[in-house]
Amino acid sequence: MMRNYNINTLNALLVLFSIVGFNLATNNGNTKCKERERRALLTFKQDLQDEYGMLSTWKEGSDADCCKWKGVQCNIQTGYVQSLDLHGSYRRRLFGEINPSITELQHLTYLNLSYLNTSGQIPKFIGSFCNLRYLDLSNSGFDGKILIGSNILFLCVKSGLYQIPSQLGNLSQLRHLDLSDNELTGEIPFQLGNLSLLQSLLLSSNSNIRINNQIEWLSNLSSVRILDLSDVQNLNDSSHHTLQFLMKLPSLEELHLSNCSLSDADILPLFDSHVNFSTSSLTVLDLSLNQLTSSSMIFDWMLNYNSNLQHLDLSNNLLRGTIPNDFGNIMHSLVSLNLTSNYLEGKIPKSIGNICTLETFDATDNRLSGQLDFMTSSNYSHCIGNLSSLQELWLWNNEISGKLPDLSILSSLRLLVLNVNKLTGEIPASIGSLTELQYLYLGGNSFEGIISESHFTNLSKLEKLDLSDNSLTMKVSNDWVPPFQLLTLGLSSCNMNSRFPNWLQTQNELSIISLSNVSNISPTPLWFWGKLQTLVGMSISNNNITGMIPNLELNLTNNTMINLSSNQFEGSIPSFLLSNSNILEILDLSNNQIKGELPDCWNNLTSLKFVDLRNNKLWGKIPFSMGTLTNMEALILRNNSLSGQLPSSLKNCSNKLALLDLGENKFHGPLPSWIGDSLQNLEILSLRSNNFYGSLPSNLCYLTKLQVLDLSLNNISGRIPTCVDQDFKNADKFLKTIDLSSNHLTGEIPSEVQYLIGLISLNLSRNNLSGEIISNIGNFKLLEFLDLSRNCLSGRIPSSIARIDRLAMLDLSNNQLCGNIPIGTQLQSFNASSFEGNSNLCGEPLDRKCPEEDPSKHQVPTTDAGDDDNSIFLEALYMSMGIGFFTGFVGLVGSMLLLPSWRETYSRFLNTLILKVIMWWKQ
Ligand SMILES: *[C@@H]1O[C@H](CO)[C@@H](O)[C@H](O)[C@H]1NC(C)=O
Ligand SMILES: *[C@@H]1O[C@H](CO)[C@@H](O)[C@H](O)[C@H]1NC(C)=O
Ligand SMILES: *[C@@H]1O[C@H](CO)[C@@H](O)[C@H](O)[C@H]1NC(C)=O
Ligand SMILES: *[C@@H]1O[C@H](CO)[C@@H](O)[C@H](O)[C@H]1NC(C)=O
Ligand SMILES: *[C@@H]1O[C@H](CO)[C@@H](O)[C@H](O)[C@H]1NC(C)=O
Ligand SMILES: *[C@@H]1O[C@H](CO)[C@@H](O)[C@H](O)[C@H]1NC(C)=O
Ligand SMILES: *[C@@H]1O[C@H](CO)[C@@H](O)[C@H](O)[C@H]1NC(C)=O
Repeated sequence: MMRNYNINTLNALLVLFSIVGFNLATNNGNTKCKERERRALLTFKQDLQDEYGMLSTWKEGSDADCCKWKGVQCNIQTGYVQSLDLHGSYRRRLFGEINPSITELQHLTYLNLSYLNTSGQIPKFIGSFCNLRYLDLSNSGFDGKILIGSNILFLCVKSGLYQIPSQLGNLSQLRHLDLSDNELTGEIPFQLGNLSLLQSLLLSSNSNIRINNQIEWLSNLSSVRILDLSDVQNLNDSSHHTLQFLMKLPSLEELHLSNCSLSDADILPLFDSHVNFSTSSLTVLDLSLNQLTSSSMIFDWMLNYNSNLQHLDLSNNLLRGTIPNDFGNIMHSLVSLNLTSNYLEGKIPKSIGNICTLETFDATDNRLSGQLDFMTSSNYSHCIGNLSSLQELWLWNNEISGKLPDLSILSSLRLLVLNVNKLTGEIPASIGSLTELQYLYLGGNSFEGIISESHFTNLSKLEKLDLSDNSLTMKVSNDWVPPFQLLTLGLSSCNMNSRFPNWLQTQNELSIISLSNVSNISPTPLWFWGKLQTLVGMSISNNNITGMIPNLELNLTNNTMINLSSNQFEGSIPSFLLSNSNILEILDLSNNQIKGELPDCWNNLTSLKFVDLRNNKLWGKIPFSMGTLTNMEALILRNNSLSGQLPSSLKNCSNKLALLDLGENKFHGPLPSWIGDSLQNLEILSLRSNNFYGSLPSNLCYLTKLQVLDLSLNNISGRIPTCVDQDFKNADKFLKTIDLSSNHLTGEIPSEVQYLIGLISLNLSRNNLSGEIISNIGNFKLLEFLDLSRNCLSGRIPSSIARIDRLAMLDLSNNQLCGNIPIGTQLQSFNASSFEGNSNLCGEPLDRKCPEEDPSKHQVPTTDAGDDDNSIFLEALYMSMGIGFFTGFVGLVGSMLLLPSWRETYSRFLNTLILKVIMWWKQ
């Protein structure tokens, strides 16, 4: 009877056993498993819970041959169990204890228990397998000490270890040691230097391991080929000259030193160490995520030693300067080069085009300029077709200019990512001959001209296409059937030639589509809305599309983002958008003609993070169910006709709500005090232009993350609450703008305001505030806008005000201020109108000269009833928070969708949204 070997397993075992030194003799395959071992395995099984049937073939029965059980391999000649592979996976795993009966398998050479769900220490009896060579305990629940047999050749333990046991140094036969992904702390024991046969040592992804001071032991690792010391904490201590030791390891092929805080000072000693790359076997060097700054030093080091490197990763450093001209001539063996996220500038040297072996070139996020001529021409060509091996080119977010060359020679190209550069001219139709192309990202450039069917002739593998934000016109026939099935598509700002792109109907796998700002594509066909069933992101903003959003019976996909803003959509909010629980994440219907009341069915939309219904025609109350949106980060309902009191249920939104903008509606009622108590993460709060009345609740002081507070144009009365210092301790860092203008506030400006040293703008105008202007107003070093006009403020203008150099707008008019206007270049440069209506004020810029003696003749301030309600402040703030800012936002969302990691980018963006409002406003 022949054994039915799985070919893959057989091959794997052949490789395995030839490494270990076994010879698999062919035999008749009649050997059966030993009874003792069979019983031992069954006992072993009893202690394991086998939820996924991984051991289902392990059965009792008189003639059950355990050599045929899944995961068990016997020696063909002797019949002893030789290999036990019980590895699970993240999803499928065994659970339980290792029964000591397993030690019966004394001929075991291979034991793979990875992903065993167990706990406690690695049992000591593992050490009693005299023949065990391969031990894999990765991702099992073991923790604590390891004590294992000295014959182990291969040891992999991940998750659970806190220290590297120095006894590992006794495993003199060890070839492969993988302790990455643990929580190791402490020093790497020097005893590892005894492992002179060790070929790979992997220690990355640990919490806090360090190399000890006497690092000479490293040079004993004379067989080591692969060394991963990423995340080791103190390699950057240049006094150790660690890098010199590492570079001298005679067999080293791969060196990974990612995230080791390395700086230029760690590289410098290598210049004296006479390490010669040309004789070195090093082919893989990973120096990503360090703090290297000098590109000339790092490239000099490599070029001088004539590198044989095949894979070089310098991503996420701080490299400045240029890539040397002869880079490609010397680094002629490179297969992958990653320079992502540095500050490199200048041209990409033509010599890169000479690297015939280059498959991946990634220089995303730098400041590289010049043209793409390296892709098509080279000084001398020692390989046919130059970059004919190139598969991936990533130059996203640089300053590359010129035209896109004819790339048809790059027959292996799969990924071409050139977004956000300065490329111009037409896109050559020859791009359609790149049969392997999967990603084509050309968005955010200045390409122009026509895109036609011929651009896609042979692109049958295309998955991701981004042509957005150029000046392109797409002209394809109405019945075009593209050769590809796209996953993501970005055509924002492309001219669609006044036609809805019917060919989208053929695209059945689309998950993200951005058709923003493509103008006249009305009406939107019904089948397009049907695509919402599978899309996770859809943006058709800024198209002036008219008509109703059809209320389809659709099930949306998880975490959908829908942006229909800035169109002419009418009717009410379609209920299908809200009827899918746990699904919708982002809904933007702003700037449309949506009418009616907000539906009261927000109950199960717990994944909703961002709702923007600004600038529509909604009326009625905020439904109680909106309070169930516990993951909401931004709720914007500004400029509708919503009314009523705010439902107290809104306080349940507390968790994450950062932006609440209910301004320019008809809400009324007292300002709810729960805002301060519950919405502790608010960063922007605008209730401007409503009918809120009553006093300012003092618990607004608890909003310690607040940056923008706008309660202007309401009927709020009473005093400005005196927040105790304590509450302002944090607020001083954050609060940037306060607008309480056009209310009925009385009393004095509380002196605590002086602690808000981060203020950029303060508007308290058009109230009935009295008392004096706080004397140390000069502490507001960042203040650019100050409007205290139209109050009853009296006394002198504090002279410290002259110290605020940034002040660009000042209005103190129409108060009862007296005395001299303090002297300061800034103050005298304002118009007289900034000070008018204070009958007892004198000095420049007013015409009134200050007399020696103040006549102190009191005059009632002129109340000029002008219609200048929109002060510069309001304009600035609302341009920032309003159309200007959000149009930019919407546009960004459109093209952002297309980025490989759009979701992360988007949530990062949401997080910095508020900051951007502020920054924008500051510009
Ligand atoms: C153990 O099994 C896992 C999962 O298949 C595999 O990745 C790993 O390489 C195996 N370990 C050894 C030493 O073969
Ligand atoms: C491991 O088993 C425990 C106990 O059954 C269980 O609670 C836990 O979820 C399991 N862990 C994994 C990762 O399967
Ligand atoms: C280059 O490095 C960055 C950051 O380490 C990584 O995200 C990116 O995937 C790498 N590029 C390629 C093409 O592998
Ligand atoms: C949008 O449509 C309206 C009328 O439907 C028209 O007045 C307006 O000019 C259009 N706007 C744009 C940007 O096309
Ligand atoms: C939506 O999902 C529900 C429940 O899973 C199902 O009954 C219904 O048929 C689906 N509707 C559509 C249009 O697929
Ligand atoms: C949507 O999310 C739910 C809960 O997270 C999950 O159970 C479901 O499988 C997901 N559906 C899809 C289509 O991804
Ligand atoms: C929300 O979900 C709960 C159960 O998960 C269900 O009982 C309730 O009817 C749902 N509410 C709405 C408005 O869909």
